[in-house]
Amino acid sequence: MGYPLDRLQRYRRKSNLREIFSENNVTANDLIMPVFVSDSLQEPEPITVLPGMFQQTRDSLLKEIEYCVSLGIKAIILFGIPAHKDDRGSGAYDPNGVIQNAIHQIRCRFPELVIMADCCLCEYTDHGHCGLSPDLDGFGFDMDETLSALKKIAISYAELGVDVIAPSGMIDGMILTLREALDQAGYSHVLLLSYAVKYASAFYGPFRFAVGTKDDFKGDRLHHQLGVGQYREGIREATLDVQEGADILMVKPGMPYLDMIRSLRNRFDHPIVAYQVSGEYAMLCQAIESGILSEAEAIYETLIGFKRAGADLIISYFAKRYLEI
Ligand code: PBG
Repeated sequence: MGYPLDRLQRYRRKSNLREIFSENNVTANDLIMPVFVSDSLQEPEPITVLPGMFQQTRDSLLKEIEYCVSLGIKAIILFGIPAHKDDRGSGAYDPNGVIQNAIHQIRCRFPELVIMADCCLCEYTDHGHCGLSPDLDGFGFDMDETLSALKKIAISYAELGVDVIAPSGMIDGMILTLREALDQAGYSHVLLLSYAVKYASAFYGPFRFAVGTKDDFKGDRLHHQLGVGQYREGIREATLDVQEGADILMVKPGMPYLDMIRSLRNRFDHPIVAYQVSGEYAMLCQAIESGILSEAEAIYETLIGFKRAGADLIISYFAKRYLEI
């Protein structure tokens, strides 16, 4: 005696019991694989800060996607590394730009694949900011210039058959502006994945190395991204994006912000995406590499944590690796 009547260990006595009572799982349907494309390389180049990740070339890109598809991956998200940058970020909406070419090539070969594409200026501006005419002692960016550049990027992707546009700058008004622009241009079928709650995080460090914004970048992103201690402001961000017409809401980074994922899940019926960002990936890779964590279990536990918190989809650099294991 002395045990409570409801002994929960009954559910766990053998593996079939554990399996029939399992509440969450992670399958290929839940995962979005990030893909980096460069337009100045001859050979794919390893991204040293993100073990196992590469900057793909025009040719290697299709092989990489083919491999992802063979693992069951149904969605990828593209990030571009342009050969040239300028203060207008004009490479971002060049009809012959790195992402535009990638969307075109992939769309021709893989009609069913869900192509998502990052819609931001920071990879294309020589100052490395997500908006134009940055004035960090003043009001931030020139909003009209920034929003009109984002519109041009989005339309250039839509013309080539992108499925989901992912504006990652968390610039005020970007969702409304892009929704109106897409609808007017006849692309009302294109989905908007809003980086609704994006924290100004230290965990983006490896990504900035990967896309080459590290060297040129001065300042911070505190004018437009959310302070790491903010909760209610994050809810207001998501609420506004829903009102502006976001189809999908994202929380980024993932692991430190599971509270936000859970809150959005309880408040909204929109699909929610968790982004397990570069710093989370790099940190886990280091621990796995040095034998501190066991690879399969550690990856699974982080991914299922996002599902348990209420995410429908996860952008993760582990997407491929998880399915391989
Ligand atoms: C650009 C962008 C960033 C990431 C995705 N899009 C970096 C940033 O805001 O500085 C980070 C992704 C990652 O760390 O994996 N707006």
